[in-house]
Amino acid sequence: MDLYEHQARELFEEYGILVPKAEVTDSPTGARESARRLGGRVVVKAQVKTGGRGKAGGVKLAADPAAAELTARQILGMDIKGHTVHKVMLAQPVDIDGEFYVSYVLDRASGSFLAIASAEGGMEIEEVAATRPEAVARIPIDPAEGVTTAKAAQIAEAGGLPPQTVDVLVRLWQVLTREDALLVEVNPLVRTAQGQILALDGKVTLDDNARFRQSRWGSEPTEHDEDPLEAAAAAKGLNYVKLDGEVGIIGNGAGLVMSTLDVVAGCSARPANFLDIGGGASAQVMADGLSVILSDPAVKSVFVNVFGGITACDAVADGIVQALDSVHLTKPLVVRLDGNNAVRGRAILDGRAHPLVQQATTMDGAARRAAALANATAGSAGVAGTASISGS
Ligand SMILES: Nc1ncnc2c1ncn2[C@@H]1O[C@H](COP(=O)(O)OP(=O)(O)OP(=O)(O)O)[C@@H](O)[C@H]1O
Ligand SMILES: [Mg+2]
Repeated sequence: MDLYEHQARELFEEYGILVPKAEVTDSPTGARESARRLGGRVVVKAQVKTGGRGKAGGVKLAADPAAAELTARQILGMDIKGHTVHKVMLAQPVDIDGEFYVSYVLDRASGSFLAIASAEGGMEIEEVAATRPEAVARIPIDPAEGVTTAKAAQIAEAGGLPPQTVDVLVRLWQVLTREDALLVEVNPLVRTAQGQILALDGKVTLDDNARFRQSRWGSEPTEHDEDPLEAAAAAKGLNYVKLDGEVGIIGNGAGLVMSTLDVVAGCSARPANFLDIGGGASAQVMADGLSVILSDPAVKSVFVNVFGGITACDAVADGIVQALDSVHLTKPLVVRLDGNNAVRGRAILDGRAHPLVQQATTMDGAARRAAALANATAGSAGVAGTASISGS
């Protein structure tokens, strides 16, 4: 889960990192009042979970409370890379003497953490990294040792950050480890004209696998910017990712579902989602999965691809039959059952004889069938494309 900037700012403050005084609001009049409390002159910042807010016009200086209200009115409701701005943060302006970049990120390739630091922080950091990679230092961190004062000094030196940043670098590492984060980024980390080091922006990505021990973020991930279908699926405990195609996919096992997406994409159709019902899937899980997929208006056909292992195909077929009784099927369903007890499973589905349910014996055959059904329903709209997992 990504945190909003204002949440990252609060975390930083808790860990003793200096941040500008700030308030969050969802209304222009609230912005005016906040600005008044903050001293009049403020920076108005869109709160969206995407980068490049400044360049999109989502970060603006307002000279007084009236200007803050006007600016908030412009920024609230703005669309930044597909994210609607529902809240703005008003922050006290800081007299900047230098902008630096620093982040800690999990580097899956090396199986370790990486510190990234640069003396050229600010809104052009992506450009700097692309054109002059030598201006961006990358320092591996031994996770067992972490960022000690000595390590922080090494990072600061390599990135060309002033020595006063060492203390902040150590504290940011504490944020990463104690909060179970996969990414902590500060851009810009600034030196003020008075020589203080402040975090002016913050991006924190928490490890969802550690949510159970990070109770402060709650268990409901219902954010404004989350896909409503993903939210509905999450509420039912389903492992679902919305994609932008038209063939709904249900399978057991993440590997099988991923291959199913590929095979469907190879049939000139696009998968509408990823949904892994896992091993030992009950009728309830099948019904929940089907109801989520069928409520996606983009879905034109559904492909249920199950390879029976520990979960026998007859149990899965029973689940589908029960699901058909509880979910109103409105779109064609192609089912491929193979593996453990496949013959019995197929017989159960044949026995149910639902007019919208078809069976196929192979994964390729079923994918072709589901793709053809989706394309037939979609009319002449071409739907060739490839699968890609998007979203958070
Ligand atoms: N409180 C502040 N006082 C003075 N200047 C600020 C303040 N906050 C931001 N700025 C200036 O605005 C620039 C952009 O701000 P910020 O880094 O928060 O947005 P952004 O980088 O565009 O957003 P993102 O990190 O999402 O891409 C900063 O580099 C800094 O120069
Ligand atoms: Mg920034």
